[in-house]
Amino acid sequence: MVAFAAISWKPAPPIITIDGYTFRDLNGNGKLDRYEDERLSMDDRIDDLISKMTDDEKASMLIGTGMPGFNGLTPVAGAIEGKVPGAAGGTYAIPRLGIPEVVVADGPAGLRIKPIRKDTKETFYCTAFPVGTSLASTWNTHLLQEVGKAMGQEVKEYGVDALLAPALNIMRNPLCGRNFEYYSEDPLIAGKMAAAIVNGVQSNGVGTSIKHYAANNQETNRLSINEHIDERTMREIYLRGFEIAVKESQPWTVMSSYNLINGTYTSARKDLLTDILRDEWGFKGMVMTDWFGGYAGFAAIKGGTSNVVQQLTAGNDLLMPGLPAQKQAILEGMKNGSLTKDVVNTDLRRILTFVLRSPAMAKYAYSNKPDLKAHAAITRQAAAEGMVLLKNDQQLLPYTDKTKEIAAFGVTSYNFIAGGTGSGDVNEAYTVSLIEGLSNAGYKVEQELKKLYVPFVKNATYQDSLRKVKEGLLALPERMKEMNVDKALIEKKAGSTALAIITIGRNSGEGGDRKVAEDFNLAADEVALIENVTTAFHAKGKKVVVILNIGGVIETASWKDQPDAILLSWQPGQEGGNSVADIFSGKVNPSGRLTMTFPMKYEETPSAKNWLGTPAENPTDVTYEEGIYVGYRYFNTKHIPVSYPFGFGGSYTSFAYSDLKVDKNKLSVTVTVKNTGKVAGKEVVQVYLSAPHNSIDKPSEELKAFAKTKILKPGESEVVTLQLQKRDLASFIEAQQAWVAEPGKYTVKVGRSSQDMLQQADFTVDDALIVEKVHKAFEK
Ligand code: BGC
Repeated sequence: MVAFAAISWKPAPPIITIDGYTFRDLNGNGKLDRYEDERLSMDDRIDDLISKMTDDEKASMLIGTGMPGFNGLTPVAGAIEGKVPGAAGGTYAIPRLGIPEVVVADGPAGLRIKPIRKDTKETFYCTAFPVGTSLASTWNTHLLQEVGKAMGQEVKEYGVDALLAPALNIMRNPLCGRNFEYYSEDPLIAGKMAAAIVNGVQSNGVGTSIKHYAANNQETNRLSINEHIDERTMREIYLRGFEIAVKESQPWTVMSSYNLINGTYTSARKDLLTDILRDEWGFKGMVMTDWFGGYAGFAAIKGGTSNVVQQLTAGNDLLMPGLPAQKQAILEGMKNGSLTKDVVNTDLRRILTFVLRSPAMAKYAYSNKPDLKAHAAITRQAAAEGMVLLKNDQQLLPYTDKTKEIAAFGVTSYNFIAGGTGSGDVNEAYTVSLIEGLSNAGYKVEQELKKLYVPFVKNATYQDSLRKVKEGLLALPERMKEMNVDKALIEKKAGSTALAIITIGRNSGEGGDRKVAEDFNLAADEVALIENVTTAFHAKGKKVVVILNIGGVIETASWKDQPDAILLSWQPGQEGGNSVADIFSGKVNPSGRLTMTFPMKYEETPSAKNWLGTPAENPTDVTYEEGIYVGYRYFNTKHIPVSYPFGFGGSYTSFAYSDLKVDKNKLSVTVTVKNTGKVAGKEVVQVYLSAPHNSIDKPSEELKAFAKTKILKPGESEVVTLQLQKRDLASFIEAQQAWVAEPGKYTVKVGRSSQDMLQQADFTVDDALIVEKVHKAFEK
């Protein structure tokens, strides 16, 4: 139950005054109805409100108001596009009761709405923040909270009530087309980052929707794929991030995912939505489906029927975006008793709590003028902090010579990618390209190459836009092929310029997964470009920097020896080029770390053998055979060499670790970190645990805590304390239906990556410790 005191809102102008106390007369009947009486508890008020609703209104309220272009219902608050054009949906308004439409919009890299509207010259651009992967690579939860705060201000000032973000699915496989929206292969990182974003966004008095709950790990057949996953794997890997986010940030809403788990749609699983989410974790908010999730129309493709009643009964309160057939099914269910009054009222209570706490309910006078300038500064800073220095031979970077020309190769240098496509895309006013960023910072970009690349890129972009128009809604991004730069020209530039930069770009998006050829692996044109440029420049004693402007993992092992430096910029949002220049120049010392493994070869990924499922030509079922051995949990345990390990990232300075102390009773870990280099910088402290494995097998190391230091000046130290919980010692033992810390030796390892441990300390647990007993879940 949600306590009334926990709900904060800004009252709209008072209408009735009783005993000196003013109330909003929502239904305008001149009397104070119980639901209008803000002195009563939220539950009392909502019960009264429900008692005044007709069955038809109740059915309407349990679904969204539809989506333009999808045979939806008509949005209530005005024109066909609704109150905020480009928003993803809304809830049903009941004007006679004073219930407004509440608007929800995507997404993880910032607010996604239409920037241009009919009948006005005003624009409605939003800030394109770095993609989720880039944000997570900062390992800085304070910074993410600031980013969330900025995102939330845009949400509120553009008249939206909740952001459909953050997205925290686990990167099970590097080919998932939506990995750029997600945070990590590790659930601790995913959960902590999501909690930080939620806390930031919600500090504005608007909501979030953490998504996609759960195990939405592939785009291929995402609406119908049946995933076979055991309970331990669900709880330790695919649910753990959601658990952390719920407990540490209490998001207003959760979005269930499209997929099925062990034969049932997640949106219809009571164990997932009620037993675990609410009873075990204490979630207080509302659950909504993903758009058309688990809807009969899609189930029907597989010969199924409507599962509306099952969804609402399982604890999926709101069906989005809402379709007339769903309303019909609800009304029938109410009539024939399959949808009980209790269920309807419980779901309505949660939806109405969401509505009553929204800015729309408070008639918040939004400005349509968020502080885009301030947010540009935040995205620039966050993107720079999320960049990962993968290689820096002979300290090539920072590169400070602004007197001689730099040759920029690669189409992406001129066509920088701010973020991925689909609902995670943002309509930003501009994107700063790499060459613009370098020029802004005072570097001299070589002009002859620029004059060749710019029109090439322009034409390729135009051709691509024609393709997208032809393919329509389902169009996925395609890699722009490299321009052919002949060896003679490269050699000429190697003579005339001081340094070469090559940018390699990748994009992907919702609705499709990536391929191994020419996407995970470099394409032949890219291999040739790296080869030709490095050969020519090295022959003249000049250096080469590769910038990776990508949203997901690519192959690096076969070519990484060639360039002198490699900077992983990710897809860094609208200020991208400026953020790269900040790292390049040394204005910002890189402190990003990988939140996933870069394997030597795609085929060595633990899920590669069963990726996408069977039958191969059109998968219906996928079995997560690798279980809990996702990412570094697998590579470390099986001693498989990787190209860059989880947690890895370079710096322009160096750090020493000392004085590790582990307090076995308080479960605290303390370590001293000292900047032993010549420039100021931040360090990421990573705490891994190796636990005894008596009755079940366990990964050799698991990340249990992390922290980022402040900026340490050369010679400066910081004593970093990290707090573990009993639960961090435990694994999920299915035979006991509990989280159990087994007796034996535990080793705490502190380091700067999953394969670079610098200090370690042991302690023992004498008797088995049952940390938490839980419901049986995920039976078939
Ligand atoms: C996506 C969600 C998104 C929703 C609304 C769905 O297709 O999976 O992440 O929030 O659309 O746009």
